[in-house]
Amino acid sequence: MKFKAPRGTHDIWGKDAEKLARLEDFARTIFRKYGYGEMRVPVFEDAALFSRSIGESTDIVEKEMYVFEDRKGRKLALRPEGTASVVRAYLENGLSQALPVPKLFYMGPMFRYERPQAGRYREFFQIGAEYFANPDPTADAETILLAREIVGSAGVTDAVVNVNSLGCGKCRPAYRAELKKYFSDKKGLCADCQKRLEKNPLRLLDCKIDSQKFSDFPKMSGYLCDECRGHFDKTRKLLYSAGCEFVVDDRLVRGLDYYTRTIFEVRSNALGSQDAVAAGGRYDNLVKELGGEHTPSVGFALGSERVILAARNAETVFESGAPATRVFVAVAGQGLEEAAFKLVSQLRKDGPESDRVKKILTLSVRTVAEGPFASKSLKSQMRLADKFNADKTVILGEEEMKRGVIVVRDMKSQEQVEIKAEEVTGR
Ligand code: HAM
Repeated sequence: MKFKAPRGTHDIWGKDAEKLARLEDFARTIFRKYGYGEMRVPVFEDAALFSRSIGESTDIVEKEMYVFEDRKGRKLALRPEGTASVVRAYLENGLSQALPVPKLFYMGPMFRYERPQAGRYREFFQIGAEYFANPDPTADAETILLAREIVGSAGVTDAVVNVNSLGCGKCRPAYRAELKKYFSDKKGLCADCQKRLEKNPLRLLDCKIDSQKFSDFPKMSGYLCDECRGHFDKTRKLLYSAGCEFVVDDRLVRGLDYYTRTIFEVRSNALGSQDAVAAGGRYDNLVKELGGEHTPSVGFALGSERVILAARNAETVFESGAPATRVFVAVAGQGLEEAAFKLVSQLRKDGPESDRVKKILTLSVRTVAEGPFASKSLKSQMRLADKFNADKTVILGEEEMKRGVIVVRDMKSQEQVEIKAEEVTGR
């Protein structure tokens, strides 16, 4: 029987694994600059945490969660997103007291039973951030700038920020009612939208089938209460003064119910229909709904695979600094395995300034060393050195060792030099 990775999941290796690690490295550096600390939360949680936070009637909770029972019959779910878990952890660990400015970031896999396609998976990686207990528009603007900076630093050059305001518990109900009235008269809505009309009419605005059919629909901007309008105006002003370009998008809504006021998406044209590389917004009521004090908060998450896809023409950004020099250590003859093994270990340990590295490489860069493969013939070791893309191959030969020398071959020019063995093996 042959096993395959489950549908919608993928193995990440080689260049892709390097890119993911690089993206996470960039993000960590940028998060620290903005004063964020790292948070690691469980990959599974009480399923009710997600249904309470994200909303019972959302697609994520209704159709996409991986729910299971453990051996004691507890109903658990693989996390479909990070916000609910981080809010739970914020409350459980008393972080409102422990952290003077509670800003937390996280990264890791999320799980949603969606129809897989390019840029949409059932297991995908997110990098996210939550900024607690700041009701001011500065927190909204800062979060948007942060998301854009990470996406931009990864090489997504065409990223566009879209913003909208969803209002609050005071002004949204009237808007919802108005939207429902507007769409109730429309003929030919898709089956999903007919259901959405009852439960969540706002979602009709981002329906891939129906939304473009209508343009004279009521806009939330016409229904915002004074406080929400003031908040949205200020957020836009702050973004503008920070030099962040953005588009106000009346159709922008979210697939998670916890949002209030500002919502945003960072989009790239390079992605086709799954064009959101990052998304987020304000959620002023969620902490209270999960049992805490009233704690207005804001956050976002980016989809790592999507950022990497959107940045695929900016390869260089993901390359990890100065290229390493690759050294292959081969043996020719009996009884040299130990000396060769020691040399490889020393090369891996040595810094670029070490005499040993300088002697072999005449270069002061990082070293990646491989070998020895003493059970292979010299010929197949050299073939392997080629495949390994070695810049230099160090050959420990029986004859040469008797003369106290080892051979260093430059793999490009094929030139060979002998150097004193004691200078590199330390004997
Ligand atoms: P979300 O919009 O559901 O928001 O997901 C954020 C990002 O994750 C999306 O913009 C997309 O790049 C990526 N993503 C989502 N689903 C998939 C998928 N099936 N395959 C690949 N990538 C995907 C949230 O998750 C919120 N927790 C964001 C947030 C944090 N809001 C406030 N704080």
